[in-house]
Amino acid sequence: LGIRTNRICCIGAGYVGGPTMATIALKCPHLQVDIVDMNEERISRWNSDDLPIYEPGLGEVVKACRGKNLFFSTDVKKGVEEADIIFASVNTPTKTQGVGKGRAADLRFIESVGRTIAQFANRSKIVIEKSTVPIKTAEAIARVLSANEAASGSRKNFWILSNPEFLAEGTAMADLDQPDRVLIGGQDQDAIGVLVDIYANWVPRERILCTNLWSSELSKLVANAFLAQRVSSINSISRLCERTGADVKEVSRAVGADTRIGPKFLNASVGFGGSCFQKDILNLVYICQQFGLEEEGAYWQQVVDMNDHQKVTFTSKIIQALFNTVTKKKIAVFGFAFKKDTGDVRETPALLVCDMLMKDGAIVHVYDPKVAIEDALQEFKYHDLEVNQSQFIFSTSAEEACDGAHAIVVLTEWDEFKKYDYQKFYSKMMKPAFLFDGRNMLDHAGLEKIGFEVHALGKAR
Ligand code: NAD
Ligand code: UGA
Repeated sequence: LGIRTNRICCIGAGYVGGPTMATIALKCPHLQVDIVDMNEERISRWNSDDLPIYEPGLGEVVKACRGKNLFFSTDVKKGVEEADIIFASVNTPTKTQGVGKGRAADLRFIESVGRTIAQFANRSKIVIEKSTVPIKTAEAIARVLSANEAASGSRKNFWILSNPEFLAEGTAMADLDQPDRVLIGGQDQDAIGVLVDIYANWVPRERILCTNLWSSELSKLVANAFLAQRVSSINSISRLCERTGADVKEVSRAVGADTRIGPKFLNASVGFGGSCFQKDILNLVYICQQFGLEEEGAYWQQVVDMNDHQKVTFTSKIIQALFNTVTKKKIAVFGFAFKKDTGDVRETPALLVCDMLMKDGAIVHVYDPKVAIEDALQEFKYHDLEVNQSQFIFSTSAEEACDGAHAIVVLTEWDEFKKYDYQKFYSKMMKPAFLFDGRNMLDHAGLEKIGFEVHALGKAR
């Protein structure tokens, strides 16, 4: 290709850009990795001991590489100029206005990366889509780059690759260290080879899958859709279990023991959350519709609809059990993050559960080991949900949240929730003391022995 391959720049220092590039820096000491972002606060936190995201194991890797071959900066121009390999790891949220509002991906950030590269690139470069994007986005980036090239009369080459990320939050460092697969899509075998060689520093070559650009872009959306579909499927069955006397945990075990199905992602829950499942499925639905595939789009839409339904029915069950009134009742909410081992609250199911409880008059006392109340309030705001702060209180401990509460509602599966002295909590609560386990993670028989009225998911009372 005639380019140097020892300088990498990643545009976007978020949940993906940060851990992914830190891992590349760790595994490839011969490469220099620059991560740039326009968000000054984020970058200054990456350069401090107080990293902007919580991810087990991340701090150690950043500490080992920062200042050696890993650098964080707001200087996007310099980053683009100096690197020959540029990753775009910017956010691709759902559009909130205009055509495709509420479904299509908002590609303004990815397009802005294309324009930034067009503006500052001083020589030929490999441009890699790390963000999750709709199929054919590489074509749009290529057009932005080539149109600007033509206009400036220069003769640089840009090779576009798709390299979607499959890490999950909370286990990102382990996922990056030992990925099930790395996926690389592209049109130019030499450009693909450059990226394969980087990953081959620690990923066995047979796990590095190479495809055409469009298969790679689409596979990312499909992988998330399949994972989310499993959660919605088991959640739909949890309702049937509650009506019939079957136990969803036993059903999951029995079904998952079939090696063709497998045991993972079959935990019934209050609903899936996170920044990606919903947005990626909505995007898939929108793409199907764009191609006139109405039935196919409707099929995937059901996965999101079932998830919304699960959050509503779970919360309705709480209100119903508490004698159809939660007005002025203190409710202890255990966990606000969308899953354990992260402080991320994007699209967390806790948002709708708390909103519904508060609309019914409850005073919600949340305890989460990692979530900051500002982030929770920001997420309500993002969803245009009003919060009366006298009804939404963050407690500094689970015990404090339980003091005088009518119910405990478990919304995140943090390990520490299993270790608590529930006898002590029970003694401080109003009676009857209710416990709603939105993650089916606690010892229900033990809690009942203490005196709790326990409502498990997918199990008749
Ligand atoms: P994020 O919001 O945490 O980070 C994106 C960053 O990009 C932000 O800090 C933002 O300031 C920066 N940015 C946006 N436009 C920029 C520009 N033009 N110049 C410089 N900086 C810019 O997002 P994320 O969670 O890291 O997700 C990034 C992408 O990866 C998304 O497409 C997402 O779907 C995908 N993804 C996310 C996960 C996950 O677990 N969060 C996993 C796999 C894939
Ligand atoms: C998910 C995918 O697992 C990653 O492969 C993907 O890269 C990422 O989305 C992305 O594209 O952003 P993440 O959202 O971080 O990762 O976390 P998951 O572990 O997938 O959990 C998603 C949601 O589903 C959580 O709310 C979790 O609690 C819920 N879930 C998961 C269940 O309710 N039941 C399960 O059995 C599994």
